[in-house]
Order: sequence, then structure tokens, then C-alpha cells
Amino acid sequence: MSKIAIIGAGPCGLSMLRAFEHLENKGEKIPEIVCFEKQEDWGGLWNYNWRTGSDQYGDPVHNSMYRYLWSNGPKECLEFADYSFDEHFGQPIPSFPPREVLQDYILGRVSKGKLKNKVKLNTKVTNVTFSNEKFEITYQDKVKDEISKDTFDYLVVSTGHFSVPFIPEYKGMNSFPGRIMHSHDFRDAEEFRGKDVIVLGSSYSAEDVALQCNKYGAKSVTIGYRNAPMGFKWPEGMKEVHYLDRLEGKKAIFKDGTEQDADAIILCTGYLHHFPFLDENIKLKTHNRLYPPKLYKGVVWQDNHKLLYLGMQDQFHTFNMFDCQAWFARDVIMGKIKMPSSDEINKDINKWVAMEEKLENPDQMIDFQTEYTKELHDMSDYPKIDFELIRKHFKEWEHHKVEDILTYRNKSFSSPVTGSVAPIHHTPWETAMDDSMKTFLNK
Ligand SMILES: Cc1cc2nc3c(=O)[nH]c(=O)nc-3n(C[C@H](O)[C@H](O)[C@H](O)COP(=O)(O)OP(=O)(O)OC[C@H]3O[C@@H](n4cnc5c(N)ncnc54)[C@H](O)[C@@H]3O)c2cc1C
Ligand SMILES: NC(=O)c1ccc[n+]([C@@H]2O[C@H](COP(=O)([O-])OP(=O)(O)OC[C@H]3O[C@@H](n4cnc5c(N)ncnc54)[C@H](OP(=O)(O)O)[C@@H]3O)[C@@H](O)[C@H]2O)c1
Repeated sequence: MSKIAIIGAGPCGLSMLRAFEHLENKGEKIPEIVCFEKQEDWGGLWNYNWRTGSDQYGDPVHNSMYRYLWSNGPKECLEFADYSFDEHFGQPIPSFPPREVLQDYILGRVSKGKLKNKVKLNTKVTNVTFSNEKFEITYQDKVKDEISKDTFDYLVVSTGHFSVPFIPEYKGMNSFPGRIMHSHDFRDAEEFRGKDVIVLGSSYSAEDVALQCNKYGAKSVTIGYRNAPMGFKWPEGMKEVHYLDRLEGKKAIFKDGTEQDADAIILCTGYLHHFPFLDENIKLKTHNRLYPPKLYKGVVWQDNHKLLYLGMQDQFHTFNMFDCQAWFARDVIMGKIKMPSSDEINKDINKWVAMEEKLENPDQMIDFQTEYTKELHDMSDYPKIDFELIRKHFKEWEHHKVEDILTYRNKSFSSPVTGSVAPIHHTPWETAMDDSMKTFLNK
């Protein structure tokens, strides 16, 4: 029987485990699976932790999430086809839940069976090589501080790519008298109450961290974009200006001439795909994009079909896309999906990469990733889910954000799985200061 290693028990690793569980429930014999997870529990980024810097064993903290983090897209767009929100919560819930609620949902699906037995927690993969058709994996039991080795026939890399921060350098940083941090280390916007905050970047972290600081009482928030502004109608106390040029003392000077005194600078400058544990010949090298090259169907390593990567693309679609990838990966491993010739693989990858490079706006990007996910969905027996409705929801959501960046989270969407319509949350997001599951679910 073949042996499979999964690295990472975040949403992608859990999708992989769940895909095999489905097959087993149908009475099929599945391979031996070991899932390595370096954190003390499963759930990946959704596993909030107050820590920044190192964990108690000296490893970099994986978590990039923070208190008061609410879903930034409608939950209906990420719903699992085989486990609806209605099933988990026993009733329809609003469309934009806070982190704890989504964590509960993700873990609810995998906690019912015996999947946790397959996960080695507190176990960090430190090295992977491939030779003689086998992966040799070196791993560390962090609690016992013991190193072991094992060999596997297949490897699934699901270690995420929003954990190792990209930290640029600007002139004047060394002598800036305030706080400089990356969004990876941002934990609580309360810290910036009454402060002048600079946020650098123009993507989801910049948008949300800036709004959080405003919501929890920052005196001013100035967002410095590099290439293109987000361009939302920012509330009072917020503005968006062009690119930080330098810092002089506590003064931030931007390329468009704006000058702003600052107490803190938060770098929302994205993350690195970082796989220090993988040998060079099996290591994915990419920036954050919708179709990283060298991955057939965004999953199978072009040069070695026993190596599969999950969730390596930039993400509009998340949990149900990860599921489609995992079901596809499972069927490749089980030999149910035959890999085409190298020529066809190359053509297919190049086709998607070329399409991606022509995308100009969010609507086109949503279409691109929806088409990708639908194609994968059609290749396996992942249960039916209405991706056309999800596409429509994403576009509506984008338009809601343009209309009013403060109120888009108060809208309601319908489920692509059950069809039920989400109730409106009891408190508008702008005034909902408590993000606990208890308060959120309270009628
Ligand atoms: C701030 C922030 C907010 C987000 N908000 C949303 C949101 O609202 N909605 C949404 O759908 N998505 C959101 N995302 C996107 C997020 O990427 C996905 O939801 C999801 O967590 C990705 O799952 P993953 O399994 O690929 O990666 P991760 O969640 O990062 O999980 C990877 C796992 O691999 C483990 N691991 C890594 N290296 C090793 C190793 N060497 N050995 C053993 N284990 C290892 C990690 O400990 C971790 O548990 C957000 C991301 C960030 C950064
Ligand atoms: N639930 C939530 O509310 C929430 C909150 C935060 C994040 N997230 C998720 O977290 C993930 C990561 O998002 P992210 O925004 O951290 O990363 P990202 O989407 O990869 O964006 C990185 C940003 O950094 C900017 N940048 C890079 N180098 C820079 C520099 N030297 N100076 C200024 N700007 C620079 C980029 O600007 P250019 O565009 O100019 O290249 C880009 O805007 C996404 O999946 C997102 O959905 C969700």
C-alpha cells in the first residue's frame, strides 16, 4: 500500500484528509496517511494566537490573524459542498462571520470522524528530499525535541503562503521613533487608539488593518499604496496617498508630497512563498498570483507527479476551491485520474498562465478563478455546489465594497449549497466591537 505525507493541517491539509475520508466512507481502501503539523493544534491560520515572533520552542509563529478579524468575503463563497453552514450551526447565520465562527465551522467538519489520529501535532517537517521514487522526510517532535525520518510515496505540501512576511526597507526606518511592524505581527487595533498610523500596501491586509485602526479609535490612518490605490470612499480620519518616499524623524514623506507625522507604521506588504524544508528540485518558487507556474491544474508538480501542492494561488475562492484541489489530488494519487503527456501538461499550464497575465480587474480575476475551480470540480466526485451563484456573489460583494467600504459586511447572501438566505447580523460591522462567537450567534 502506498504511503502519503501531508505537510500542514490548515484548511488545505484538512481538505486533503477529508477527501480521503469520503473515499473510505464509500468502502474503498485508502493509503496510509501521515499529516505533519508544527502547531499544537490543527486549523492553520484560523488558529489565533496572541504570540508574535517565536513560539515556546523557538519556531517562528505561523499565525497572521488578529483579534476582531471578520471574514472579508461572504461565507457563502467559501462554503463546503459536503458540510453546509446550516448543518454546522443548526440554523442560517449572517454572511460575514468573525474568525472564531469560521474556525468552528472548519474544524466541525473534520472533528466528527477519526481524522485527528492521522495528524502528528507539534511536529515540524525540517527537510524533504526525493530519490529512488520516494520522499524522505525529516521531522522534529517539538515537545520532545527529537528528530526522526520516514519515507513516503506521495507528498502533499499544504503549508500555506501567508505566514512569512515580506518586509521592505524605507529610508529613515532605523531612526523612526515609533513602532514599525508587519501585518503578520498585528494582533489588536486597540493598541493604536489615539495614534497617527501609517499603513503601507493596497491589498486586503492594508484595507482591513487600516479600517480596524480607524474603527478602534486611531487618530488618523494614512495608507501609502505602491502601484494602484484601492480607491474606496474612506471614512473620516483615513486617506490614501502615493508611496512612502522616506521617514524623517517621526515624519513620513510620500512621493505625492504628502507629509504626515506618525506614531506607528504597519507594513501590509504581503508574504513570501517560503519552503525552507524542501529540496531545490521540488521547491515551488513564485510570488502571490492566481496561477503559479509549474503546477498542472494548479496542483501537480510538473516535473514529479507524486508531489502535489494545495492552496498555493492567490485567493478569491478558498475552502471549496481547496476541496476541489484535494479531491483532484486524491484521485491523481489513487490513479483514478491519469496524467496526460508532458506536452499536454505544458500546454495546459501555459494556457492558464497566459490568461492570468492578461487579467485587468477584479471581475476578470473572479471569472478566472471561478473557471479554474469549476474545471477542477468537474474532474472529481466533489459534491455539487453552485459555482455560478458564487461567481455572482463575488461580483456583487466587490460592488458593495466600492459603494461603501464600511457597510459591505452588513449584506446578506444565499447559500450555494442549501439555498438558504443569510439573516442580517444584529449589529452593523462598524459598531460591532465584540467578535466572539457567543455574541455573534446571539439573536
Ligand atoms: C490575515 C489573514 C486573513 C484571512 N482571512 C480570510 C478570510 O476571511 N476568508 C478566507 O477564506 N480566507 C482568509 N485568509 C486566507 C487563508 O490563506 C485561508 O483561509 C487558509 O487559511 C489557507 O489554508 P492553508 O491550509 O493553505 O494555509 P494555512 O492556514 O497557513 O495552514 C498551513 C499549515 O501548515 C503548517 N505548517 C507550515 N509549515 C510546516 C512545516 N514545516 N511542518 C509542519 N507543519 C507546517 C502551519 O502550521 C499551518 O497549520 C486570510 C489570510 C490571512 C493571512
Ligand atoms: N479577513 C480579512 O479581513 C483579511 C484581512 C487581511 C488579509 N486577509 C487575507 O490575507 C491574504 C494576504 O493579503 P495581503 O494583503 O497581506 O497580501 P497580498 O494580497 O499579497 O498584497 C500585498 C500588498 O503589498 C504591497 N507591497 C509589496 N511591497 C510593497 C512595498 N515595498 N511598498 C508598498 N506596498 C508593497 C503590494 O502592492 P502592489 O499591489 O503595489 O504590488 C500589495 O498591495 C489574502 O488572502 C487576504 O484575503 C484577509
